[in-house]
Amino acid sequence: MALSSHIACSDPGLKAALTYALENPGKQLRSRLCRETAAMVATRALSGTESVNNAIESASQVGEAIECLHTYSLIHDDLPAMDDDDLRRGKPTVHKAFDEATAILVGDGLQAFAFEWVAETDGLSDNQKIQLIRLLSKSVGFDGMVGGQAMDIAAEGKSLDVSLLKEVHLRKTGALIEASVLAGAICADATETQTSALHQFSRNIGLAFQVMDDVLDVTASSETLGKTAGKDITADKSTYVACMGVDAARAYANELLDEALALLTPFGKAADSLIVLSRLLVHRDK
Ligand code: IPE
Ligand code: IPE
Ligand code: MG
Ligand code: MG
Ligand code: MG
Repeated sequence: MALSSHIACSDPGLKAALTYALENPGKQLRSRLCRETAAMVATRALSGTESVNNAIESASQVGEAIECLHTYSLIHDDLPAMDDDDLRRGKPTVHKAFDEATAILVGDGLQAFAFEWVAETDGLSDNQKIQLIRLLSKSVGFDGMVGGQAMDIAAEGKSLDVSLLKEVHLRKTGALIEASVLAGAICADATETQTSALHQFSRNIGLAFQVMDDVLDVTASSETLGKTAGKDITADKSTYVACMGVDAARAYANELLDEALALLTPFGKAADSLIVLSRLLVHRDK
């Protein structure tokens, strides 16, 4: 069943807009990270097919909640007061297809629904749900995505040094990617040692992902990306491309990826799918 059909919303305008946003879901990389991490940790624990499947099922629902948070962040990112974009996932942005008030409210509603959806996930203990809610709320909060977005807007027209730029990217994009991996770890009851390796792994791929987003903005077409290419230059954004150029930015993303993949060694063969997915996060064409 489509996720939008699980969302109780009696206002027809809001319902149409949230369905519009959710039924064109993008690459779904964050939910895949959550699911693949849970599968890897549960398989490694050799806890039997049934408990592996339970962990994957719970992580799939938590992954849907994460996609709601991500979609909300994009709807607000595209608003005229933020990046002012008309195109997202190959279609008009929500504020263009509907109106600005609707886009703001759909974003707000999706954020709230994400936590409802985590709370309603079967197969998780109350303690796991509280850990997930704490993790996800921090990741999109003032020192996570929202804080990073504020830094990103404030940095327009300025040239940031690379350590500050790293902080912006780790927050605005990295934090939710990090939380997607760690949420999978919570669903599969990862040990402290596993969680600490996954923490560093996810920081690296989260940063590498946004570095490549900066690269694709100048190297790919709007048609491929499904969003307006070249937007960072027009808006005078602080990006890794502006800071170090395309080649060095791409090389840096690859370095971060290599470091990340090395951290998965202790998981052995169980890490194979997560390794493929991590490579896709960096070596993507959109
Ligand atoms: C785009 O994220 C926004 C950033 C955080 C850079 P994605 O590239 O994952 O977007 P979708 O979900 O596939 O549309
Ligand atoms: C967005 O970064 C990060 C979010 C929190 C949504 P960008 O502004 O670079 O994302 P795109 O390029 O519009 O997808
Ligand atoms: Mg932005
Ligand atoms: Mg943007
Ligand atoms: Mg971008």
